[in-house]
Amino acid sequence: MIESDVNVQAGSVDLMSQIEIVLFKEEYANSVLELMHSTPEVDHHTDYTLWQAAYFDPGLFFVALKNNLVVGYLFGRNSHDSVLLWQFAVSKAYQGSGIGKKLVSAFILSAKTQQYRKIFTTITKENNASKAAIYSAAKQHGLLVSEVGETSNFGGKMKPEKIFKIDLKIS
Ligand SMILES: CC(C)(COP(=O)(O)OP(=O)(O)OC[C@H]1O[C@@H](n2cnc3c(N)ncnc32)[C@H](O)[C@@H]1OP(=O)(O)O)[C@@H](O)C(=O)NCCC(=O)NCCS
Repeated sequence: MIESDVNVQAGSVDLMSQIEIVLFKEEYANSVLELMHSTPEVDHHTDYTLWQAAYFDPGLFFVALKNNLVVGYLFGRNSHDSVLLWQFAVSKAYQGSGIGKKLVSAFILSAKTQQYRKIFTTITKENNASKAAIYSAAKQHGLLVSEVGETSNFGGKMKPEKIFKIDLKIS
């Protein structure tokens, strides 16, 4: 079950103090899939794909909880010295409250701790919210985001997306 829109108290000031960012556990799988499949902007993956993300990249998979209910998630993928910020989403009712930024921030911190050197992500031209959340979280960590290219249409049907890179400062 995901937190439903009707439970949202408009103007609730201390919403962020009720949000907990935790590593993914199997018990959240159905809620993450439910949120993913009710979010039109993201690719709708299968449970198997989600399992892969959790199995191979457990330290790059986070959920945002409010009262123990999933209101957001983010998962990534590692590749050599880099990680891909693969997908993140926040329940419609809570978008624009700072949860997306908090998820990205947890991801950056984890990637740094695991000694990865770069974060890559791709964003569609029209996804201002995604871009803003990534830029804002990077800024919070004193990191710069640079645009490094564009995906192809990968044989015809894929909508090209801009590729962004964040260089991580490893101390
Ligand atoms: C993208 C998404 C995860 C961002 O999460 P969010 O919780 O809504 O974003 P936040 O509230 O943390 O906002 C972070 C920053 O982005 C800004 N922002 C949020 N929505 C915005 C919008 N539509 N346009 C421009 N800026 C926006 C906020 O003002 C904030 O800026 P600040 O830190 O400078 O104050 C969320 O909007 C979402 O789930 N969208 C649908 C799924 C999706 O597109 N996922 C990304 C592709 S994988």
